[in-house]
Amino acid sequence: MAKKIKENELIKADEHLKSVAVIMDGNGRWAKKRLLPRTAGHKAGAANVEKMLMTFREMGVHHVTIYAFSTENWKRPREEVEALMELTFTYLQDVVMKKIEAGENFRVHFLGDKSALPERLRAKCVEVEGLNPDSDYICNVALNYGGRAEIVHAANEAIKAGHTEITEEILTRYMYTSESPDPDLIIRTGGDFRISNFLLWQCAYSEIVVTDTLFPDFDRDAINDAVKEFYSRKRRFGGVEEEK
Ligand code: FPP
Repeated sequence: MAKKIKENELIKADEHLKSVAVIMDGNGRWAKKRLLPRTAGHKAGAANVEKMLMTFREMGVHHVTIYAFSTENWKRPREEVEALMELTFTYLQDVVMKKIEAGENFRVHFLGDKSALPERLRAKCVEVEGLNPDSDYICNVALNYGGRAEIVHAANEAIKAGHTEITEEILTRYMYTSESPDPDLIIRTGGDFRISNFLLWQCAYSEIVVTDTLFPDFDRDAINDAVKEFYSRKRRFGGVEEEK
């Protein structure tokens, strides 16, 4: 994707970059390096979520999907799970709701099974989802989310709706992400090269950028570098020539 990029300038996203997803990994290691408990890393990560979302909005990316808690994360120690649930609740109440009430232009949509969440958090998610319904900047928060579970859920929803045969279009319609285009770019912080059950259906043609930066340190410059890397790629979507 040929795009002229000026040194040190925040890249402006164009039609090739409508949707970005982020696997926010490395909070635990960030804390360990500082001899802090893992929960302190999650706290620092949560503080960085807001900055990251604002940076993507400034770039002009309309859809940002973040992996906050996977269906596998329940296996973590009970105190860590509880801390993550509490942090997410506080974040929604004290940051997201305040920003929307102050007139910020974005809305939040949750991906995953809310029914297993603590009741207080589940209710907050429903409340937040009802805010700013007309905003065209959307943040999808994957919470108690698993890619395989999502595909099974979509198939079951399609059956419930009376479909007797599944097509790609039908399954896509019943995915949690039906309001957003597939991610053009998936960024994983923390240096590991794996997808961890994230957006398995939607990642078919996503460009994947892995950065060693730990999520709490994933700042404006690091985001810009990841997007620069995206624009240096040639996307072929299974064809032989660059389509853009
Ligand atoms: C992975 O780091 C991160 C998570 C499992 C949780 C991500 C959550 C946040 C950034 C904060 C809460 C989110 C919101 C929306 C407020 P890790 O613990 O696996 O790190 P490690 O690989 O270094 O151990």
